[in-house]
Amino acid sequence: MMPNDNRKPTTTDAGIPVASDEHSLSIGPDGPLLLHDHYLIEQMANFNRERIPERQPHAKGGGAFGRFEVTEDVSRYTKAAVFQPGTKTDVLIRFSSVAGERGSPDTWRDPRGFSIKFYTSEGNYDMVGNNTPVFFIRDPMKFQHFIRSQKRRADTNLRDHDMQWDFWTLSPESAHQVVWLMGDRGIPKTWRHMNGYSSHTYMWVNAQSEKFWVKYHFKTDQGIDFLTQEEADRLAGEDGDYHTRDLYQAIERGDYPSWTLYMQIMPFKEAETYRYNPFDLTKIWPHGDYPLIKVGKLLLDRNPMDYHTEIEQAAFEPNNLVPGIGLSPDKMLLGRAFAYADAHRARLGVNYKQIPVNSPKVAVHSYSKDGAMRVQNVSDPVYAPNSKGGPSAVGERYPTDSTWETSGEMVRAAYTLRKDDDDFGQANKLINEVMDADARARLVSNVVGHVKGGVKEPVLSRVFEYWKNIDPEIGARIERGVKGN
Ligand code: HEM
Repeated sequence: MMPNDNRKPTTTDAGIPVASDEHSLSIGPDGPLLLHDHYLIEQMANFNRERIPERQPHAKGGGAFGRFEVTEDVSRYTKAAVFQPGTKTDVLIRFSSVAGERGSPDTWRDPRGFSIKFYTSEGNYDMVGNNTPVFFIRDPMKFQHFIRSQKRRADTNLRDHDMQWDFWTLSPESAHQVVWLMGDRGIPKTWRHMNGYSSHTYMWVNAQSEKFWVKYHFKTDQGIDFLTQEEADRLAGEDGDYHTRDLYQAIERGDYPSWTLYMQIMPFKEAETYRYNPFDLTKIWPHGDYPLIKVGKLLLDRNPMDYHTEIEQAAFEPNNLVPGIGLSPDKMLLGRAFAYADAHRARLGVNYKQIPVNSPKVAVHSYSKDGAMRVQNVSDPVYAPNSKGGPSAVGERYPTDSTWETSGEMVRAAYTLRKDDDDFGQANKLINEVMDADARARLVSNVVGHVKGGVKEPVLSRVFEYWKNIDPEIGARIERGVKGN
């Protein structure tokens, strides 16, 4: 450092000032290095350990901080503190793509993750959703296989459209989500220009212990916008981090993105007789049946300071639920209630909730103790029940669980079909009632391009049949497009 230089002195990780940022310790200027150059060794060792495992799915993403403010009164549906009138809650959001690795282009066609961590006064509440209101499958047994089919082959280590369509066409329940994916929503213009959905049905419980089934819709205030396949392909080469950059720069220039939260709310009893299984993740609830009810506004106004500590190490989990919000009998959701915390233990270590971005802003009185990287002290007593003044569960004092009644024999079976349950009906409506002619033309062109990229027999014939099951005319146009006539 120069005299009068008031920059902070470089230190070792132990805070000790170091002698040089440039020169290692050697015997004479041209001589060998010395093992006791602790600072050199510390720099090398730290660098060698910088990378942590990436998320299995949803590895590429970016995020920001902000606030959720309740602008309406939905207290008759939930007692959750985060949704009481006027409440403001700090949030963290992470957007992501699903199949690509950490360095993959943001503009690959894929669903986008939409994860929110609400730091509520009752502990952390996570809503881990996507930019689509449905999903490809309805049983968690198929999730691992589905994701593998979207990632890379064992032999070539390449992504493979034949493998993707093989899985989809053998899983007709995927049709609805595949229409979303192959349509304009499959490549949002930016993360700011897409909606976020819980996709799943959750439970809300009010102060009188009345229960409701609900779905979340975070509607973008920036408006929905998309990239064409050609634009996305170009950007994948020019700027693989296009979406990451867009979010960071928008917040940096004070153009804070926001979303308005609406709910669909189904009275508890109506689930028994609704024409669709309301817990089937491949279906939406038509808005004519359950209109959107406004709740509040989500605004992002702060970029992370350190991507690694605040975004890469963020751990979202659908089982982080607060009193007044519960799970539902959606088998996918029940599977997810296990999967995420398990993934975090593997990726970040057992004490991942002590990483500041994952720590609640309320006091933790848990009986968990020890383990690698635990940094918060625990105090005695370390067991319950105890007569030493340790914490005691509030369940006996007021209900915290959101439950439903069930009975039956243990089976491995598909959901019981309801009157309007089938795999293709809602996919057809999306094409014919939501898309206009131009959007349908782009859908056909996107599928043709995707299928031409390596789908072979016998999968190819099944692709035509799959689309004809969704809509005979669209199916025929796709077949003509692929066969070039
Ligand atoms: C990430 C499992 C379905 C949205 C993940 C991760 C796992 C996982 C293990 C990586 C977590 C991590 O390492 O941090 C599953 C299983 C599913 C399922 C087992 C079904 C049985 C879904 C569905 C949605 C979804 C239906 C959306 C509605 C996400 C999102 C992330 C994610 C947004 C990224 C979270 C983040 O930003 O850190 N999933 N998933 N997943 N999943 Fe799922």
